[in-house]
Amino acid sequence: MNLTVIGTGYVGLVSGTCFAEMGNTVTCIDVDSQKIENLKKGIIPIYEPGLEPMVQRNIKNKTLHFSTELSENLENCDIAFIAVGTPMGEDGSADLQYVLQVASQIGQHMSKPLIIVDKSTVPVGTADKVNETIAKELEKRNVSLDFHVVSNPEFLKEGDAINDFMKPDRVVVGSDDELATEKMRTLYAPFFRSSTDRLITMDVKSAEMTKYVANAMLATKISFMNEVANICELVGADVNKVRIGIGSDSRIGYSFIYPGSGYGGSCFPKDVKALKKTAEENGYSAELIGAVENVNDRQKLVIANKVVSHFGENLSNKTFAIWGLAFKPETDDMREAPSIYIIRELVARGAKIKAYDPKAMDEAKHFYLKDISESVEYYNSKYETLDGADAMILLTEWKEFRSPDFAEIKKQLNQPIIFDGRNQYNHERMADNDFKYYQIGKK
Ligand code: UDX
Repeated sequence: MNLTVIGTGYVGLVSGTCFAEMGNTVTCIDVDSQKIENLKKGIIPIYEPGLEPMVQRNIKNKTLHFSTELSENLENCDIAFIAVGTPMGEDGSADLQYVLQVASQIGQHMSKPLIIVDKSTVPVGTADKVNETIAKELEKRNVSLDFHVVSNPEFLKEGDAINDFMKPDRVVVGSDDELATEKMRTLYAPFFRSSTDRLITMDVKSAEMTKYVANAMLATKISFMNEVANICELVGADVNKVRIGIGSDSRIGYSFIYPGSGYGGSCFPKDVKALKKTAEENGYSAELIGAVENVNDRQKLVIANKVVSHFGENLSNKTFAIWGLAFKPETDDMREAPSIYIIRELVARGAKIKAYDPKAMDEAKHFYLKDISESVEYYNSKYETLDGADAMILLTEWKEFRSPDFAEIKKQLNQPIIFDGRNQYNHERMADNDFKYYQIGKK
């Protein structure tokens, strides 16, 4: 099939590239000409394992193209995917201006029947708005063309996006038109290698809702466990043991019940807020979803609070070695990363920071922690951050932090203290090694 993917952000670029890898001819469109020039050379703007070689391979095979021109690419296109950003508006709702701009452009330039797919995370009712916008533009042009708007939310995890796309647990397609559904089924058929058909079809609104509910449910599991962790500490229980105890119940399961410094990233914080907002707009106060968000906001500061209770309110003579800045491993994404909140809190109390992250230091330095650059130094290896630091604080569970040389850590730190925001080490072993070891959910 000939596909056009509009928006070369995370979702658009991964989707477009994977569709090309499956043999479709894909053109990815973006208004950012610099980005498009780089992409044409196979240079991608994000870190995502496996993506760059796949982009390069498909450019070479002529299955993947990049362009700033939407109009000319619609001529030969079977399906157009809208994958532009839906940033969080000031009131917590998803800002649809980019999605609707693209819809207008499609209406202005389409010249044959078309399926338009919402791939961006959009609130319930957006497909209707996209539909209206395109219809209005066609009316202005006085042309009548058949088109259908389909909702096909993505469930990609950063750091594992290629795998998620190429071997999906399920693909959700919301469509009110049988032929459009069939076309989507044909497009996705090669992604299901086994005989099980994991394409789930439903009406458009339910598909739009599915995306938010999946993310809100996962965020709820995390906030629930973080709350449990805080209670465990108070009563003298160990949340790591409780986690295993409950996860073994197949109704609960082990996934997404790891306590930590709170969830971050581009999806959970934004989608939980947006779902709450959608409920409000429809006259319903979403108490549980609101609590998920509040617990997460509080959780982001749990490690900073532990530092303060150890060292005192004033941290002006203290230096901390931070291991990990990204919101999770295998990404350079800093959006809503707990590290931002923790580092800011420590710096506000006068502390100096020596930070290391395998991928996210540029993002941190140039954007997220730019305004406090005087208090944060960046190093090229984890051990370099330790010299003269009063404690090590682990905030992202990168594999390379999993079994470090503890003798080296002890040698370099002023005192052997570790604050672990991701429960990476064994409490008993740390005590045997004479570390003062703070973690989440165990005193
Ligand atoms: C998520 C969804 O998983 C994905 O399906 C959706 O399309 C986009 O949002 P992502 O944001 O890439 O993907 O990361 P994910 O691996 O889901 O982790 C999200 C956050 O939850 C991270 O901050 C992570 O540290 C945290 N988390 C996850 C926990 O704190 N505990 C857990 O047990 C699992």
